[in-house]
Amino acid sequence: MRYVLGIDVSTTATKAVLFDAAGTVAAVGSTHYDFATPRPLWSEQDPGLWWDGAARSIEIALQTAGAGGPDVAAVGLTGQMHGLVLLDAAGEVLRPAILWNDQRTAGECDQIRTAVGRERLISITGNDALTGFTAPKILWVRNHEPDVFARVATVLLPKDYVRVKLTGERATDRAGASGTILFDLAARDWSPSLLDLLDLDRDLFPPTFEGPAVTGTVTRAAAAATGLRAGTPVVAGGGDQAANGVGLGVVDPGTLALSLGTSGVVFAATDRPRIDSDGRLHAFCHAVPERWHLMGVMLSAAGSLRWFRDVAAAHLDYSQLDEAAVAVPAGSDGLFFLPYLSGERTPHPDPHARGAFVGLTVRHGTGHLVRAVMEGVAYGLRDGLELIKASGAGGVDEIRASGGGTRSRLWCQVLADTLGGVVRIPSTSEGAAQGAAMLAAIGAGWFDDARTAASTWVQLDTVATPGPDAARYEAGYGVYRELYPALRPFFPPLD
Ligand code: XUL
Repeated sequence: MRYVLGIDVSTTATKAVLFDAAGTVAAVGSTHYDFATPRPLWSEQDPGLWWDGAARSIEIALQTAGAGGPDVAAVGLTGQMHGLVLLDAAGEVLRPAILWNDQRTAGECDQIRTAVGRERLISITGNDALTGFTAPKILWVRNHEPDVFARVATVLLPKDYVRVKLTGERATDRAGASGTILFDLAARDWSPSLLDLLDLDRDLFPPTFEGPAVTGTVTRAAAAATGLRAGTPVVAGGGDQAANGVGLGVVDPGTLALSLGTSGVVFAATDRPRIDSDGRLHAFCHAVPERWHLMGVMLSAAGSLRWFRDVAAAHLDYSQLDEAAVAVPAGSDGLFFLPYLSGERTPHPDPHARGAFVGLTVRHGTGHLVRAVMEGVAYGLRDGLELIKASGAGGVDEIRASGGGTRSRLWCQVLADTLGGVVRIPSTSEGAAQGAAMLAAIGAGWFDDARTAASTWVQLDTVATPGPDAARYEAGYGVYRELYPALRPFFPPLD
């Protein structure tokens, strides 16, 4: 068997990527879709899109590689975290999935804090109740759609819906499951006391597995739909951030995984369950046994630059935006950008936070605005990194960066200068799908563990080292930190 397959069920596409034993990408199949925002603050998706997308993408990947199902040794799943999928007793989807970027559950977050106690919640799960997480979404359905809730037999995360379709098995991985905040971080399983306090039935939740563990095998029906061989093992995999960490070889403390996609993430592996006692960082299980991770999540990172381009510079492509920004000095001549276009999670868990340009003058042109966006996002990521350092997770010398934003060498340099570390980017850009495939490769017995897999599969190029602009960014970061508290009174709640 020549290949393993990583499937990434993301918010915008489901991708199937075939890797050979050396970690080389043999083929990629990708199926795109949208998510719906039927009301302000809502974000939903039909789980059928993921399964159709997975089936099509797997077929495309196999065809492109000139491979057949028997060539695939194992499948690993990853995908968007925190989404709520509800199935009835017959396995039918009960309502559109409520996604990670949905912000409707502020009331339910309060309800959880009241029922459990904020400190206790953080000490068990590692996390405060945030609108993005799964548990408040379950309570929202119970509070607002009691008829739907009465019929719920199974609660799943998005990629685990694809798992059910592939294998017929209800199962999830521990990295993803900890993102529900119904999970005992240290025990690496559902927390009976939390489920009790929230009056949720344990039977609604699937059994949990470590990332490389086999959770089932491809059924005949799924084989017919995808081209895979019936009986192919499917491993647990991991939530997209943990899988991305595996894909970048960030499984031990010391290196930072940084994702500069629509959202922005700083991610550090830990060898025990460390938490930020204020719950501003996320603390979850890693997708490999005996490892955990801390992460800071910004909701709008490269998404901020895409927004800016779409509304103000649609005639320019990203390389032209880069050229304009390179011509501007570090610090953007005193212009600052707050990247809270979709509310924020880290370090301000505030669905009502808003974006802002601060300090505009007539001297500022497109290049300043672009550079200020890049710098604002880097400062936001620095906020996350500062919390990671303060949690005792240790220093970070090397930043392994991925995501569309890393195509900008300027942005990588701004990150190196602002975060104070060498920025390296992987030679394959399949991030989470690569991590899922590595977990599948371990499950298939190709490697003993993620460290060994990474030493063969992960190749990195150094693209930026901290330079002379670091001092200017240090001063700029001091100003940036003052802006959110100063502007917060002016961020109006939306209905
Ligand atoms: C992580 C998170 C995002 C989603 C998006 O906490 O919410 O990474 O998983 O894919």
